Amino acid sequence: MSIVKFEDVSRVYTSGDHELKALDRVSFTLDEGKFVVILGPSGAGKSTLLNLLGGLDSPSEGKITVNGRDISTLSDNELADYRAATVGFVFQFYNLIPTLTVYENVQLVKQISPNALDAKEMIGEVGLGDHLHNFPSELSGGEQQRISIARALAKNPKILLCDEPTGALDSETGVMVLKLLLGMAKNYGKTIIIVTHNQNIAKMADVIIRVKNGRIRSVEEQPEPMSADEVEW
Ligand SMILES: Nc1ncnc2c1ncn2[C@@H]1O[C@H](COP(=O)(O)OP(=O)(O)OP(=O)(O)O)[C@@H](O)[C@H]1O
Ligand SMILES: [Mg+2]
Repeated sequence: MSIVKFEDVSRVYTSGDHELKALDRVSFTLDEGKFVVILGPSGAGKSTLLNLLGGLDSPSEGKITVNGRDISTLSDNELADYRAATVGFVFQFYNLIPTLTVYENVQLVKQISPNALDAKEMIGEVGLGDHLHNFPSELSGGEQQRISIARALAKNPKILLCDEPTGALDSETGVMVLKLLLGMAKNYGKTIIIVTHNQNIAKMADVIIRVKNGRIRSVEEQPEPMSADEVEW
């Protein structure tokens, strides 16, 4: 069953009399439960696409359907509900709240998500159960990203959206965090969409979307994606 459908979606930024088409009539569909990688050069429109899908931004034209619901015409309040219930985010720079402990950062999602999972349990699953009362600044980059993964999954969303989740980590830590992220997405039955510059990650994807100059260049299904252990990192 398709969980995401883009139909002729454009996002145009205007400054003065200059128009920039960050996305230009983009169409594709994605099936539920898949691992999707979005590849493309800098400025291609990858983050724009992910932000539209995540309800952080709205299209200038076109229709976006997620989980059977047209999200392209929602009001700000409706979009907030959509984000709370349907999507979890993992960004490059973790975006943890520095004045809250690890536990409080993850527990926070209870206030916005109607079907949140237990914060302690999720922190345990990313292997940081001993750090519940630390502040983010007391953790390494890799550990902070593991907490943001715990937080994204604690929301219990249908879809996990990850924008260069290992971009700020050294390659060894990045691989470790990525394996954790993909393993958990699979265990919890999530559809996961990752924007990355890492070709190795793409080898593991069910679907690879290539974006360039705001257009979709290809949507490629990989019937037999590699496992993390088969990839030469
Ligand atoms: N808020 C904005 N206002 C104006 N232009 C924007 C805005 N956000 C993005 N753009 C432009 O839209 C285009 C696509 O940007 P986007 O951030 O989606 O690229 P990207 O593929 O994620 O690149 P990167 O790999 O560098 O993160 C770029 O030319 C960018 O400058
Ligand atoms: Mg980007």
